Amino acid sequence: MKRIIDHPILGKEEEREKIKITVNGKSISAYKGETIAAALIANGCRDFSYTRRFHLPRGFFCGIGQCTDCSMIVNGVPNIRTCVTRVEEGMIIETQYGYGKK
Ligand code: FES
Repeated sequence: MKRIIDHPILGKEEEREKIKITVNGKSISAYKGETIAAALIANGCRDFSYTRRFHLPRGFFCGIGQCTDCSMIVNGVPNIRTCVTRVEEGMIIETQYGYGKK
């Protein structure tokens, strides 16, 4: 996991509360209060979704909820913008293909 371990505002890494989320069936660690996108990037995940027509990968781009490139299926709900959605304990996150319908 790649993270800033000591930050003047966020504090030290060991002071933050860790939780578990599941991404494509794999359990990973996240910090309470961070976004899904931040947790995924810290764990080496870059491809959040694939386009409907050309099946090209999309990931973190604007980081402010405007572009939809970070959309994923979260707890069974497609098109969740992961850059503006905070992680919650036990959250299940899946890569989205096209519109996210199964
Ligand atoms: S990165 Fe653009 S909406 Fe999330």
